[in-house]
Amino acid sequence: MKVLGIETSCDETGIAIYDSDAGLLADGLYSQVEIHAKYGGVIPELASRDHIRKTLPLINKVLKGANLVYRDLDAVSYTAGPGLVGALLVGASIGRSMAMGLGIPAIGVHHMEGHLLAPMLEAESPKFPFVALLVSGGHTQLVRVDSIGQYKLLGESLDDAAGEAFDKVGKMLGLPYPGGPRVARLAMQGQSGRFEFPRPMTNRPGLDFSFSGLKTFVKNTIAEHTDSDALDKQTSADIAKAFEEAVVGTLTIKCRRALEQTGLETLVIAGGVSANISLREILESAVTKIGGRLYYAQQQYCTDNGAMIAYAGCQRLLAGESDDLGIYVKPRWPLESLSTI
Ligand code: KG4
Ligand code: ZN
Repeated sequence: MKVLGIETSCDETGIAIYDSDAGLLADGLYSQVEIHAKYGGVIPELASRDHIRKTLPLINKVLKGANLVYRDLDAVSYTAGPGLVGALLVGASIGRSMAMGLGIPAIGVHHMEGHLLAPMLEAESPKFPFVALLVSGGHTQLVRVDSIGQYKLLGESLDDAAGEAFDKVGKMLGLPYPGGPRVARLAMQGQSGRFEFPRPMTNRPGLDFSFSGLKTFVKNTIAEHTDSDALDKQTSADIAKAFEEAVVGTLTIKCRRALEQTGLETLVIAGGVSANISLREILESAVTKIGGRLYYAQQQYCTDNGAMIAYAGCQRLLAGESDDLGIYVKPRWPLESLSTI
């Protein structure tokens, strides 16, 4: 079954074709970063308008890349939520209408389920059951995964998501949007040990997270070291390093705790922050130490992409699911409400 995947939930137009027999056939991404950078964050209306301009041309390009025509497609899968309502509506309207025109089924998929299943696109993929750490710009969640759709939320962030904290710290350090990858790059030049930031909520039991206090800690440290309104380069890098260490340290403690609590040995990390090299390395060594195994997707499938949506939709379509002719989006959509396949 050849499934066209359409991702338009935020500031990236992602298109891919996944074949249940042959795997990923082609994928393409158009990032809106340049459009939003001058505002320091995503402007929803500009995002929707740009998805309208980019989605169809990108679908044509990806089809061409796979040497396919519209009639070769067996189904369409699009992100139906969570995300920005206008942006979601673009992908849902195009995906649903295209499927109707072609007389093939369509399915609206959950963006975070897409992230969660992205590591399955790799040659060595995780087997159920496992614990998943979902770390993106909007979510930080620990989930017990028993099968596709069988998700039990073990803990989540009570305030900022990990990616959001990275982005806000990037802004404080004067880095352009999106701050996450730039903070990570700056941290590579930083010296460990000069600053020690707190690991929030690790001293008490439970698997919830909180990153807003850490963000305030960073803000105060920046203020203390700012002379005549400029932070010197090394201090900036040292702060980025201490911040990254605090986030990675906190996530590692909670992941280890989640594995202990569930008795599981497999950990999957997914979402934009799972592209972070330091997080991957430290978790890898922590999980290996306790006899477990860590799985993650290739860098380009950690951040938003069409491949994960095509893959997740394909699994649900193969299980017999599909949507009616309505165009529905769910800007808020709990992962736990999904059906088990
Ligand atoms: O999954 P994603 O592309 O979009 C959402 O679903 O939110 O995640 C984007 C988030 C942003 O906050 C971005 O700064 C963060 O992931 N991110 C990173 C890295 N790459 C992306 N954060 C830390 N280190 C990275 N290398
Ligand atoms: Zn995402």
